[in-house]
Amino acid sequence: MGSLDSNTHEDHTSTTPFKPLDPEEFRSQAHQVVDFIADYYKNIETYPVLSQVQPGYLHTRIPQTAPHHPEPLHAILRDIETHIVPGMTHWLSPSFFAYFPATVSTAGFLGEMLCSCFNIVGFNWLASPAATELEMIVMDWLANMLKLPTTFLFSGSGGGVIQNTTTDAVLVTLIAARDRILESIGANYMSKLVVYGSDQTHSMFTKACKVAGIDPRNIRLIPTTIDTGFSLSPFSLSKVIEADVAAGLVPLYLCATIGTTSTTAVDPIQPLADVAARYGMWVHVDAAYGGSACICPEFRHYFHGIEGVDSLSFSPHKWLLSYLDCCCLWVKNRDLLVKALSNNPEYLRNQPSESNSVVDFKDWQVGTGRKFKSIRLWLILRSHGTANLQAHIRSDIQMAKMFEGLVRSDPRFEIVVRRRFALVCFRLNPDKCSGPEYTNLTNRKLLEWVNSTGRVYMTHTVVGGLYILRFVVGATLTEERHVVAAWKLVKEGADALLKSK
Ligand SMILES: Cc1ncc(COP(=O)(O)O)c(C=O)c1O
Repeated sequence: MGSLDSNTHEDHTSTTPFKPLDPEEFRSQAHQVVDFIADYYKNIETYPVLSQVQPGYLHTRIPQTAPHHPEPLHAILRDIETHIVPGMTHWLSPSFFAYFPATVSTAGFLGEMLCSCFNIVGFNWLASPAATELEMIVMDWLANMLKLPTTFLFSGSGGGVIQNTTTDAVLVTLIAARDRILESIGANYMSKLVVYGSDQTHSMFTKACKVAGIDPRNIRLIPTTIDTGFSLSPFSLSKVIEADVAAGLVPLYLCATIGTTSTTAVDPIQPLADVAARYGMWVHVDAAYGGSACICPEFRHYFHGIEGVDSLSFSPHKWLLSYLDCCCLWVKNRDLLVKALSNNPEYLRNQPSESNSVVDFKDWQVGTGRKFKSIRLWLILRSHGTANLQAHIRSDIQMAKMFEGLVRSDPRFEIVVRRRFALVCFRLNPDKCSGPEYTNLTNRKLLEWVNSTGRVYMTHTVVGGLYILRFVVGATLTEERHVVAAWKLVKEGADALLKSK
């Protein structure tokens, strides 16, 4: 960012040669940035959690053009503090209870530093053998922590790869599924392919389907209800598929979810996979959020039937202390993925790839270049160990349980959906006689009031026509006192709203 007063300075162009990476300068500047970061984490509670700026605020604060001359780091850091930080919503604040968290850790940060330090572009094995091999090892480690069947490991027919986001994971598996089926029935069936999810499946699914060329009319988002906790019913799925088959369409892909975005509903994997198997469909499990909890034995049962699916993804950047972006994808049949996504340009040809003795991860993803993300996960897994990662998940869940108890203790509130992980779905039910619209409006106002204080940030969802407040415990710095303070604030808002009624 251009320093505010820099453009008016006289010409200081030095006669010394430009050295963009000087190790000693790096050492001294990096120390300054580390101090800046440590202070940010230390003082994070002093910032409003939800940014209070208005749209376009930054245009009036920074110069319209990039500086011609170099600017000192201290001036840039000062401008970050003065102009950028106020425009940030502080995802790492201990009072951030919105969406799903973006968890971080010292180990994750150090891994991020090392990833940036080496800046390898590991599209194939030869481009940096350690990056590919470490990724294979770390993905097998994680698969073992999740107790995935050996077919998902490199020692079996499958393997794991780090994608950027769940959208990428769904897109690449959808393309593999699409190509598999079109190869057997013919490319002219493309417009007949049908994909399935529920009305709770994350919106990335529809986006991935569009990118993969699925006719938008063939995307089925099957309705769920509060009676089944918003999980996808295998019976409803089979009815919809039967109707599609009767209409001459071809079932292709099912995206089931462990921990939906709105309410953390869990789709029953085994019976859904059984239905899909009858039609030779590809089943993907999106466990973006809930997957992290499944490293704890008490949550592993959500994976029941996982041996019947074709692929599974979860995102350690959501809940397993990794910085963005890090979405882990496993497939049961790696050959299908590679067949669909591989290319072999002359300029990347090399002996190890051609001898088929190595993995080239460019053939497992959309892009070619890729970062050394496995080093981040490696640091996290080694520095914390499974024991501490499990403790971290359990501690968040314990705090969510405590919040749930506080909500239950106040008869003006209700828990709307069963809590499964660290998300509490609740709402104020001010007057059961006033009707659903009034209740929805009251909760919307309550959320606006709470967030406008800047002291916490929570978000909402609407399911089954109900406007629900979502309270997710997960920011790495959150302690019990932040949860208690958040509840007090919610109660204060309810008092104010109900008094003014
Ligand atoms: C269940 C679920 N799937 C997918 C996503 C989207 O993830 P990504 O941003 O990694 O594509 C989210 C985001 O919260 C999610 O909750």
